[in-house]
Amino acid sequence: MTDRVPSPDFSYAGETLCAERLPLPDVAAEVGTPFYCYSLAGLTRSYRALEAALTGLPATVCYALKANSNQAVIAAFAQLGAGADVVSGGELRRALAAGIPAGRIVFSGVGKTRDEIALALRSGIRQINVESEAELDLVSAAAAGAGVTARVSLRINPDVDARTHDKISTGRKQDKFGIAIGRTLPAYARAADLPNLAPAGLAMHIGSQLLDVAPYRAAFGRLAEQVRVLRAAGHEVKSLDLGGGVGITYRDETPPRFEDYAAVVRETVGGLGCELVFEPGRSLVGNAGILVARVLYVKDGGIRPIAVVDAAMNDLARPAMYDAYHAIVPAIRPQKSQDWVEMDVVGPICESGDTFAVARRLPPLAPGDLVAFGSAGAYGSVMSSAYNSRPPAPEVMVSGERFAVVRARQTADDLIRQESVPDWLGSA
Ligand code: LLP
Repeated sequence: MTDRVPSPDFSYAGETLCAERLPLPDVAAEVGTPFYCYSLAGLTRSYRALEAALTGLPATVCYALKANSNQAVIAAFAQLGAGADVVSGGELRRALAAGIPAGRIVFSGVGKTRDEIALALRSGIRQINVESEAELDLVSAAAAGAGVTARVSLRINPDVDARTHDKISTGRKQDKFGIAIGRTLPAYARAADLPNLAPAGLAMHIGSQLLDVAPYRAAFGRLAEQVRVLRAAGHEVKSLDLGGGVGITYRDETPPRFEDYAAVVRETVGGLGCELVFEPGRSLVGNAGILVARVLYVKDGGIRPIAVVDAAMNDLARPAMYDAYHAIVPAIRPQKSQDWVEMDVVGPICESGDTFAVARRLPPLAPGDLVAFGSAGAYGSVMSSAYNSRPPAPEVMVSGERFAVVRARQTADDLIRQESVPDWLGSA
């Protein structure tokens, strides 16, 4: 089987791979390689599809910035009416800078610092999702110091296995996230007692790249149970934040449709009269982006041909980190498919983990050819690094036949400029 990019926004016009209506070789000629490319139509379609599935529910969609925090991407979602889920002061600043209203921002994360909490309170965000009882004390003190009341939700760990990759599973009792479900009532009571805190409800996020709604049904069911327990004890519970996690197709997976996910939401928590917050990341941006690279060399490996491309694990870490599969397709597709061959596709970095694909079927590639990695819109650029002093790749956004560079290419000088040599070094 040969790969295909699982998105209608990256398809062939004749033999040339396009982003929407723009031939990718044209972008490469102007921007150089490697580069990330996002489709505005793709972002918009996924957002609208989620919105449609949630119709009738009192829902706020808070896009999880961690999936892709480029200003242009956030601004596109802001224009569609999205809020934001942020997990650091940096992401909070990015959300505000791109035009997300503070009143639609929720702040999640297991290790918020005093400064980040203070920034959140100063900015007047919608709510802080608190992940421990110690954090409640800190938020209370910070709110008292700032003379405000902090609206908080308690993130509960439901002890449900999301049946996804171990490293992105977050709702089992051994995972570091949230407050153990058995502590919900005492923790909520503590939040209600502490000065300058207004407990608004509960939050949950059980993992990422879920391919089945059953874990959601189990987790949201447990959440609903806790709402009843809290209400029976006289607490007000106005809001439920259900996190993100809906999976996407990388290869041949069939992720839940937003409608199926929404049906589970309706069935489990729909009747509680709570406002609902959603924190989708990957399902909104994952298939609206690709990474484009150029072939540097093709050599005979010990087992099969190896194509060395100019993107590496510093640009797209997911294969090295999670053994993730990303489709790889040629930018120019030969008409005949019978002479396609199996080859490995690797980056230039000096470790064997810098391998994108083993035994992938591709047309015979030659130096200079362009290839695209599919499903790279989420957790691609945001996870890039400058390992091997390779500056992070630029990013472009396409709409129709237009494109804009939305993150400039950096240079080695940019990296060096941030460092300095102490004047006492070498002066002996
Ligand atoms: N909300 C919270 C509290 C989260 O921790 C996450 C993701 C999300 C929302 C968004 O989840 P999504 O809808 O994107 O699945 N780097 C990994 C994924 C890490 C996800 C971390 N948390 C990867 O490349 O697969």
